[in-house]
Amino acid sequence: MDAKRGTQTVLITGATDGLGKAAALLLAENGYRVFAAGRSTEKRAQLGTLANEKRLPLETLEMDVCDDGSVQRAVTSVYQKAGAIDVLINNAGLAYVATVEDSSKPISSVSCV
Ligand SMILES: NC(=O)c1ccc[n+]([C@@H]2O[C@H](COP(=O)([O-])OP(=O)(O)OC[C@H]3O[C@@H](n4cnc5c(N)ncnc54)[C@H](OP(=O)(O)O)[C@@H]3O)[C@@H](O)[C@H]2O)c1
Repeated sequence: MDAKRGTQTVLITGATDGLGKAAALLLAENGYRVFAAGRSTEKRAQLGTLANEKRLPLETLEMDVCDDGSVQRAVTSVYQKAGAIDVLINNAGLAYVATVEDSSKPISSVSCV
């Protein structure tokens, strides 16, 4: 896994934490230009700081995959900056385990992801 620095553009959804964050950092460390998307401003800031400290070709984007407008804005931003998306890793997701009667979340908040 290696790309000539910044030549391949990768967009990863849900990249501010967990597996997505690990993949974003690994790919950036291997020369990919990474756009790491997520909802949390705080988590995006932390990842952005880490990427800056390591001088990685990684920038963060705001994207909520449940919001079409948010997805459109993020994708447009990547095209404006990089001209193309070579690899899309659609990683955003969540695990929510509860019986229906014990569930406090509306099912739509889980199923939309
Ligand atoms: N870990 C496992 O054992 C496992 C097993 C099977 C499948 N998976 C799948 O693998 C993926 C990653 O799992 P993980 O354990 O790394 O999850 P995680 O640590 O909870 O991270 C989930 C990521 O998704 C983002 N996210 C959640 N809802 C979102 C939304 N509506 N729009 C955009 N981003 C959203 C979160 O960032 P923000 O909060 O910043 O949006 C976060 O960066 C998920 O799809 C999960 O279902 C994981």
